[in-house]
Amino acid sequence: MAVKKIKDRIYWVGAIDWDRVIFDELVTLPEGTSYNAYIVFGSEKTALIDTVEPHKGKELLANLKELKVERIDYIISNHAEQDHSGMIPEILKLYPEAKVVTNKKCKQMLIDLLHLPQDVFKVVEDGETLSLGDKTLQFFLAPWVHWPETMFTYAVEDRVLFTCDFLGSHIAISEIFDTSDENKARVYLETKRYYAEIMMPFRNFIKKHLALIDRLNPEVLAPSHGVVIKETTFILDAYKRWVSDEVKPLVIIPFISMHESTRHMVDFVTSELSKRGVTVRPYNLTTADIGNAAMDLVDAAGIIFASPTVLAGAHPAIISFAYLVNCLRPKTKLASVIGSYGWNGTVTVKHIKETLRNLKVEWIEPVMVKGLPKEEDYQRLRQLAEEIATKVKEVATL
Ligand code: FEO
Repeated sequence: MAVKKIKDRIYWVGAIDWDRVIFDELVTLPEGTSYNAYIVFGSEKTALIDTVEPHKGKELLANLKELKVERIDYIISNHAEQDHSGMIPEILKLYPEAKVVTNKKCKQMLIDLLHLPQDVFKVVEDGETLSLGDKTLQFFLAPWVHWPETMFTYAVEDRVLFTCDFLGSHIAISEIFDTSDENKARVYLETKRYYAEIMMPFRNFIKKHLALIDRLNPEVLAPSHGVVIKETTFILDAYKRWVSDEVKPLVIIPFISMHESTRHMVDFVTSELSKRGVTVRPYNLTTADIGNAAMDLVDAAGIIFASPTVLAGAHPAIISFAYLVNCLRPKTKLASVIGSYGWNGTVTVKHIKETLRNLKVEWIEPVMVKGLPKEEDYQRLRQLAEEIATKVKEVATL
C-alpha cells in the first residue's frame, strides 16, 4: 500500500497483510494485520524505523522507491522478531551505508536470528539520543513487550512514539489513523485481543511502560501493527484498566462435552449465574475462537473449566486451553471445575489444577457428576453458582 504521512517528514512505509489468518501458528487474525515501518527524514540523516515481514518486503521497497529514498543512515530495530526485523538484511544490501541502531540484547538476537555481522550495529543505551539534524530520536528500553529486548523510539520534536508491538492491533486497513468512528470501535476490540493474546503475561512490566509514556506525553503513538493512534488517552486508559488488578463481574466457562452430560451442567450453571446478575460466557472449545475467550480473560472475575473425564484425566482440548491460560496469567480471582465422569472424576480436577499452577486464584469446590446429572447434582451446581456469584460480586470493581 502507498506511503502515508504521519507528520512533517515522517511517513508510514510498511505493508498490509489483508488476508493473513494466523500469527505464530497460534493467534487468529479476524481482521488481518499490518507490519508498520516508518521513515524519519532529518535535515542531516535519515532513519528507517523497523521493517516488515519478509514475504511482504516488496511493499516496503516500493514505498522507499515512491519516497525516492536514496540513502538510509540508520535502521532502528525496536524488536528482533522477524515480522519487524526480517527485511533488515535486504535493506542493508540496498543501503550498505546504514547502521542498525538497537540495544545490546536486541543486537545479539538479530545476530542469532538473521546472522547480521557484528560491525553493522550501533548499540544504544536507555535514554540515549541520536541526532538526525533538526530531528532527534530517543531510545527507551521497554523489555517484555513482547520479547526481552523490546524498546521504544521517540521522535522528540514531533512527539511521535514508536512502540513496536506494544499498543498494536492486528488490523489490516487502508486508513492509517484511528480517528474514524468505525476505526475506533475496531481499534478497541482488536487492541484488546492483541493485549490478551500477546501482552497479558507481561502485565507488571507494562505498568512501568505506561508510566514512562505518561511522562513523555506523546502526541501520536505509532505501533508496528494496526493503526497509528492519535486518540492516545482512549487507548492508554484502556490499557491501564487491563493491567490493573480490577476485574468485571464476568465468568467464562470453557467446556467440552462428549455425550451432553457436561453440556447440561454448563447450561444449568450459565443460567444460574446469569439469574444472579453475573455475566457468563460459555465457550465450546471444539468451535470457539480462542482469541475471544482470551479477550474475556483480560478482566473476567472467574473461570469454570467444564470437562468430561477422558481416560485418566481431563479432555485434551480443556488441557490445551488450561495450558494457554496458565501461560497468559490472567488476573482472574476465582476458578472451579465441573464435569461428568464414568468411573473417576477426581483425576480430571487434579489434571486441570496441575496445569494451572501459575494461576493465583481461589479454587471453589468442584462439582463432578457420575453420568447424566440428577436432581441432587443440580442442587450442588446451584450451590456452586450461588457461591461463585457471591464472591464475584465481592471482587468485581470494574
Ligand atoms: Fe510483531 Fe513480537 O512481533
